[in-house]
Formats: sequence, C-alpha cells, structure tokens
Amino acid sequence: MTATILDGKAFAATIRAKVADGVATLKSEHGITPGLAVVLVGDDPASQVYVRSKNKMTAEAGMASFEHRLDADTSEDALLAIIRKLNDDPQVHGILVQLPLPDHLDSDLVINAIDPAKDVDGFHISNVGRLGTGQKSMVPCTPLGCLMMLRDHHGSLSGMEVAVIGRSNIVGKPMAQLLLNDSCTVTICHSKTRYLPGVVRRADIVVAAVGRAEMVTGDWLKPGATLIDVGINRIPDGDKTRLVGDADFASCVEVAGAITPVPGGVGPMTIACLLANTLTACCRANNLPEPEGLTP
Ligand code: GUN
Repeated sequence: MTATILDGKAFAATIRAKVADGVATLKSEHGITPGLAVVLVGDDPASQVYVRSKNKMTAEAGMASFEHRLDADTSEDALLAIIRKLNDDPQVHGILVQLPLPDHLDSDLVINAIDPAKDVDGFHISNVGRLGTGQKSMVPCTPLGCLMMLRDHHGSLSGMEVAVIGRSNIVGKPMAQLLLNDSCTVTICHSKTRYLPGVVRRADIVVAAVGRAEMVTGDWLKPGATLIDVGINRIPDGDKTRLVGDADFASCVEVAGAITPVPGGVGPMTIACLLANTLTACCRANNLPEPEGLTP
C-alpha cells in the first residue's frame, strides 16, 4: 500500500485565497484593511527567512504589513514599549513576535504583553487558557493548519486515537488540545515516554513534532494510519543539505494511509493560518462576522 500524499501547498493556497476574499470584502464594504505587525529581534537566519515569507504572503492577501526589525541587544523595556504601541494602534489587528528571542529577553513576559485579541500566534496565556477550556480564542497557527488538513481528509475526527509526539507550547500541547476538543483520544508522547513505538502503533493519527530528523519509521505505524509530519530538519546530503521531517518518509509512505510530505506538507499551512488568524482578529475587533472555515 502507498499512502495518499496530503498536499499542504495546494491546501494552503486555497486558505490564502479564502483570506484574500475576506480581506477584499472588508475593504470594499467596510473600508477596513487588516494589518499584521511582525517583530523580529536579532538576525537569526531561519527567522529572517520566515519573516520575509510572511511579509510577501501578507501583501498578496491584500493586508497591511508592519515590520519591526530590532538589534539583537534591544532591551526588554524597548521591546515592551513597541508592543504597547502596536497594542494601541487601530491599524494593527495582529501582532507576532518572532521566536526564539535572544537569551536576555523573557519570552513569556514579552508574549503576555501582547493584547490577547491581537495575539495571532495564540501564545498569550489568556488564549492558551481559553483554548484549554473550549472558549473562543486565537489558535496557534501550525496546530490549526494540521487540524484543517486532518478534518479535510477524514471529515469527523471523533473517537480517533491520536499520538502527538512532542510537548512544545507552539505545537504539541495546543495540537493535543485541539484534537481533544474534536473528541479524539489523545496521547502526548515525549522524550521520557516508555516504548514510544508501541504507543505510536496504537494511533489512527500520528502528529510528529519533536524536531528529530526521520525519527518515526514505517514499522512504528499502524497500517493505514494518517501521519502529519511537522518537522523541518536540515540534514547533510553529500556536499549539500536537504530538508527532512521528523518521519522517515520512504518507509512511512509504504505503511501509512495518508502522509504529509516535507517540504510541501504542514509548512505552507502555518503562514496561511497566520493570515487567517489576522483576518479573524480584524473581524472580531470590528464586531463583524468571521469568514467560515478559518477557525476551529
Ligand atoms: N518560531 C518558529 N515558529 C514560530 C511561530 O509559529 N510563531 C512565532 N512567533 N515564532 C516562531
């Protein structure tokens, strides 16, 4: 058996088109342009690539984009002052502070200084609590993208067994919460999980988000399982490098029923969901109806 390839690149394009439609309607009917502010501290090369891509996609969706590039030695007070300004700026509906921040900055303090209504990453403690209690919240982009792909492929997820591998605040924990809210039976696995392959083999759906290149192999999977690979790992390949996921694609594609490739799977969904969250935040801020299908 060879798995169905879940094409995140194509799916993300449909989400971005839906967002662009929503933005066009907001502009023409209400004279409102959704705006996203991105704050980047320091010059981490991977973060620079993400931020460039975010700016391009924001513009393509017809949104306003505000970029704040700050030196690596920016003080916490200076960063907090910028966040306060963005919180108060009516043209800004979404604020994203690119992580990781340099070590001298307290990420929790900085994230919790963002107005929760503008927290398009869904990392503010208030949004985490709201998601955990089933209240309306901003939802972290990567798990939201994974949920959209799973619902698109399976329809209802109710009653399915899921193994989420990884317990990060950005992916693993919110992913588990979203799947629990969809009535899945969820196991969160991590580095101390005893006999991980045995836990994974019970699952109808596996979400791999550990950051370990090609760790999940085909013999870990229940035949026909759906594998969502969130990993983006760069590994040596001769005298070059290449991107691989947290799953060994070659062996998993032979056992899984459906699988996301790397690149071209979950990755493109993250920015599409960031745009979706910005549109959602803008609609909520203006007491306008939210477009269907962009929130859980
Ligand atoms: N760094 C890596 N992924 C993310 C993300 O989803 N949001 C932010 N703010 N920073 C990140």
